[in-house]
Amino acid sequence: MEQAPTSALPTGGQGAAGTPWPSGARRRTDGELEVAGVSVSGLAAEHGTPAYVLDEADFRARARAYRTAFEAAFAEVGAGVDVYYAGKALLTVAVARWATQEGLRVDTASGGELAVALRAGVPGTSIGLHGNNKSDAEVLAALDAGVGRLIVDSLVEIERVADLAASRGVTAPVMVRVTTGVHAGGHEYISTAHEDQKFGLAVAPGPDGGTSPALAALEAVVARPELELLGIHSHIGSQILDASGFEAAARVVLQLRADLAARTGVLVGEVDLGGGYGIAYLPGEVPLDPARIAKDVAGTVAEVSDELGTPLPRFSIEPGRAIVGPAGLTLYTVGTVKPVTVSESDADDGGTTFTRLYVSVDGGMSDNIRPALYGADYHAEIVGRESDAGPVLARVVGKHCESGDIVVHQVMLPGDVRAGDLLAVAATGAYGRSMASNYNALTRPPVLAVADGAARVLVRRETVEDLLALDQG
Ligand code: LLP
Repeated sequence: MEQAPTSALPTGGQGAAGTPWPSGARRRTDGELEVAGVSVSGLAAEHGTPAYVLDEADFRARARAYRTAFEAAFAEVGAGVDVYYAGKALLTVAVARWATQEGLRVDTASGGELAVALRAGVPGTSIGLHGNNKSDAEVLAALDAGVGRLIVDSLVEIERVADLAASRGVTAPVMVRVTTGVHAGGHEYISTAHEDQKFGLAVAPGPDGGTSPALAALEAVVARPELELLGIHSHIGSQILDASGFEAAARVVLQLRADLAARTGVLVGEVDLGGGYGIAYLPGEVPLDPARIAKDVAGTVAEVSDELGTPLPRFSIEPGRAIVGPAGLTLYTVGTVKPVTVSESDADDGGTTFTRLYVSVDGGMSDNIRPALYGADYHAEIVGRESDAGPVLARVVGKHCESGDIVVHQVMLPGDVRAGDLLAVAATGAYGRSMASNYNALTRPPVLAVADGAARVLVRRETVEDLLALDQG
């Protein structure tokens, strides 16, 4: 049996490079999609839809690939490197354990994420805490857990963390988050190193041309004995698909490190280059290759350190999406299917009309806000049955009371798509569940893990009772 003309799913062997599906995804000859040997129709029947499905082996393989690629490339130039899994992409107790078992540390962005990592048994020393506006309670929770590093983001925070550390009689290990002026990544909202945004301290001098905010912050840390200055942190953006931004940022950070050493005699031991490693969301898109990017970045930092005459620091990186994004997919059930005639005016030929099939599913912007928020594109397929019907242009939409509630802007689906069909959207593992909401009082879907032919619930489906329990009348 030929695979459906609208399918980019592998029918056997390993998933090809450039596929948005997890490596354990196969389309059977009867059209059914299996992930890690588990049929998605069976998952839908048992757990309902929508549901997030995570391929555990795929997650682990990507975590390992990043760690081993960076360790090898940095060892080649004589530097050590730690890989932190950025939990903001998706953090559950099991996911934190998988990351730790694969030799990664865990990067958290709030007291809540910190609590999940600690519940998973991740040692405090292997956890980093980020945040541009951490509360005192979050800082104290991090200090009490003995986190390996707090990434500080402003001058006021530096004084606050120092005071809180003093109140606990401990020394707080900190990194200073800087903005290098390097622009990289996709949408403006996910590009974080340009100056006009809330994160970090600028390496560029202020308007008076004096000491840069970054240098001032580093010196402020050095001045407080309750703080141990570990190093400098830079995160330039997300869904980055080439090395140049990382290389440019690394140059700026290593120069800043040398400048700080020249002024204070303190040569910091660590540099974090952040996350942002891009993935394939659509068939044919080429993701960043960890081995390639690791080699490029390691080569650059070695060259720059050589030019500056400073020994290499220890490095760290914080990939989130690149580890969990392609490991996950979302299963939906199709409901209403409605052809809509679309007119496009065209000055030359007076305009054209075409039909777009609106395919409504039982979730939407509450389980994946990324298409609405960033205009993000996804790939979807009808799974669970075969079809010989010709492909039609479709838009997958959710069930929310909002016309921007789009799941997949455009995709070719079999022309016989109908209510009751199971639809899978690829590469939703990162920032799907973690950015999910209860808009329209929809309940958030479960997170199901599949491995070796078996499924287990990592996070159960929310119920209306859960929602009502929060409402105190
Ligand atoms: N490290 C830091 C300091 C970050 O701010 C982020 C992402 C990461 C690591 C992980 O980035 P990743 O490797 O996953 O791209 N919600 C957006 C992305 C915003 C992420 C913000 N920080 C999205 O859905 O694309």
